[in-house]
Amino acid sequence: MKRLSFIWLIVVYYAFAKACPAQTITSPNKAFELKVSLSQEGTPQYQLDYKGDAVVETSSLGFEIKDDEKSLKNDFEMVGTATSTFDETWEPVWGEESEIRNHYNELEVDLKQKETNRLMTLRFRLFDDGLGFRYEFPQQEFTYFIIKEELTEFAMTGDHTAYWIAGDYDTQEYDYTTSKLSEIRGLHESSISGNASQTPIKPTGVQTALMMKTDDGLYINIHEAALIDYSAMHLMLYDENMVFTSHLTPDVNGDKAYMQAPTTTPWRTVIVGDDATDILASRMTYNLNDPVAIEDTSWIKPVKYVGVWWEMITGKSSWSYTDELPAIQLGKTDYSKLEPNSTHAATTEHVKEYIDFAAKHGFDAVLVEGWNVGWEDWFGNSKDYVFDFVTPYPDFDVEEVHEYAQANDVKMIMHHETSGATRNYERHLDTAFQFMKKYDYDAVKTGYVGNVMPRGEHHYGQWLVNHYQYVLEKAADYEIMINAHEAVRPTGIARTYPNLIGNESARGTEFQAFGGSKPNHTTILPFTRLIGGPMDYTPGIFEMDISKLNPLNDSHGNFTIANQLGLYVVMYSPLQMAADLPENYNRFLDAFQFIKDVPVDWSKSVYLEAEPGEYITTARKDKNSDNWFVGNSNGTTPRTALVDLDFLEKGKKYIATIYADAADAHYKTNPQAYKITTKKVTSKSDLKIYTAPGGGFGISIVEVD
Ligand code: NOJ
Ligand code: CA
Repeated sequence: MKRLSFIWLIVVYYAFAKACPAQTITSPNKAFELKVSLSQEGTPQYQLDYKGDAVVETSSLGFEIKDDEKSLKNDFEMVGTATSTFDETWEPVWGEESEIRNHYNELEVDLKQKETNRLMTLRFRLFDDGLGFRYEFPQQEFTYFIIKEELTEFAMTGDHTAYWIAGDYDTQEYDYTTSKLSEIRGLHESSISGNASQTPIKPTGVQTALMMKTDDGLYINIHEAALIDYSAMHLMLYDENMVFTSHLTPDVNGDKAYMQAPTTTPWRTVIVGDDATDILASRMTYNLNDPVAIEDTSWIKPVKYVGVWWEMITGKSSWSYTDELPAIQLGKTDYSKLEPNSTHAATTEHVKEYIDFAAKHGFDAVLVEGWNVGWEDWFGNSKDYVFDFVTPYPDFDVEEVHEYAQANDVKMIMHHETSGATRNYERHLDTAFQFMKKYDYDAVKTGYVGNVMPRGEHHYGQWLVNHYQYVLEKAADYEIMINAHEAVRPTGIARTYPNLIGNESARGTEFQAFGGSKPNHTTILPFTRLIGGPMDYTPGIFEMDISKLNPLNDSHGNFTIANQLGLYVVMYSPLQMAADLPENYNRFLDAFQFIKDVPVDWSKSVYLEAEPGEYITTARKDKNSDNWFVGNSNGTTPRTALVDLDFLEKGKKYIATIYADAADAHYKTNPQAYKITTKKVTSKSDLKIYTAPGGGFGISIVEVD
């Protein structure tokens, strides 16, 4: 899979130096300079400059170690340094482009703590779009230790604008706040809305990927890459001097990570660009992850799907089979003796209707939730044996559905809601995956709603990070693709395990049925949540008035139909859902055509214009044809997008079909007003397209003779 086009690896020098001066490297394009030094107390420090000015001012590195007065904070000497250059191009299994260049200059700084003789290496990689660095612990006597806190600092140069959600050990499902760094403390409490499991980090904790903009117009993004066997990092802001410090997710004892040398931490990343589009184009996070670990990836395929889902989320129908029982016991409750309710969605007949719809409109797959016993009583009671993942409800005939799907050339997507009972899931995992293989399911949506079991653990702690990884690797053994909801946000590990085709880990479309997210939500997510990998955002809602589906739900989707179309391009994912009900698509079949046509895998991506919180316009080329697609998501201010088509092949003629907001469209008052026009275009064309508040557009561009 990996094509090594060019590797140039030179160890420039390896010097043993007791009192070392600052070590300096530059990025391949020379735009960045990194300085690493030791303070007078022997504390490691780094500083990152971009085009001659600091982006991260002198910042300390180190750890607080449990039951250890000395800790890994100071008293270090440099015992060696090495620099090298790396340049390769690799081919992702799926992605925003078919080739990714991984080009950086590296600095290794080997440290020894004088009094304890403990060894710690700092590895820095400086790319043309920013910095990645991590801590490494070589084989040594100091083998087992527990991190009480990681002390990585990111000292900002001013009171930047930030696009943030509150730090939380259990959820990322918050609406974004845009504010100055100095305003985070005052806005923190009001930024937190209710969730099934949440542990906010007060008073100034924020999540990564954190997007910022300086007063000089520089864009900065802080995140992490390759989160493996460690706990997720949040950032705590010390707002008297605008310094962020890493804040790891604790375990039940308050400990942050259990370490065994030789080992490494995840990479800490700082992506920097003069234009917001530079952040969207960065592939640093993937590049800092290991190459693919799965030998044969031919079974991993991008998926466009529909599902028995939105009707439950809106409250039109239910996951549960009966209303008779307030509590069920797995294996003991005899469902055949219970009165079915009239709202259970996952019946054989109803699922067949979705299969028909998928087959008719060319979708790859159908997701079905609420097919298995246990939903009457699935969360809120800290229940361990909550689901067994193999026992269907009496009205869901798994064999019949399987045969029907096969006859219609449609795949089924499995749903495993764990309810946070991770130990229960591990207990059942092999039988659950074997059951899936028997009925030809090759993808599963997992879910972790509610408080975690083992009790006291958090969704983003090391224990859970290891659980998600265990499920991912076990799934790979079974050739199963994973789409994990409520799991830790991704950090580029899909490069190594491309069977991780989706994550939720942020507010998805479901919140539009729980009261709504801000209209500019999807103009921020690509700068934050999507930095680490694709999101199963589940766009494509055409009926925004949720009371039309469920009279008891007065939520309203904060977007227009044209916006929903644009998201299939703006919010890259190899897994895309058309989330609305077939009956709503049947009302707008001309707009639905865009969702049918849009690919889920690309050979090239061009980020045309972007401003976090305001708008994003992205163009992508289909991986399997010469067709291009353009998408836009717009915030609350109406504007005219300028789409310069010079990415098209020179000399060729194309037809552009433009699905745009009508002049009177508005996310609140007129969300279904769109117009579809066609136009002959070439690489010399510029399109000016009006976007409404909460609006957007989708364009398909097809070559003609
Ligand atoms: C929350 C998920 O995000 C949603 O997609 C799913 O339907 C429910 N949990 C039930 O598992
Ligand atoms: Ca969710």
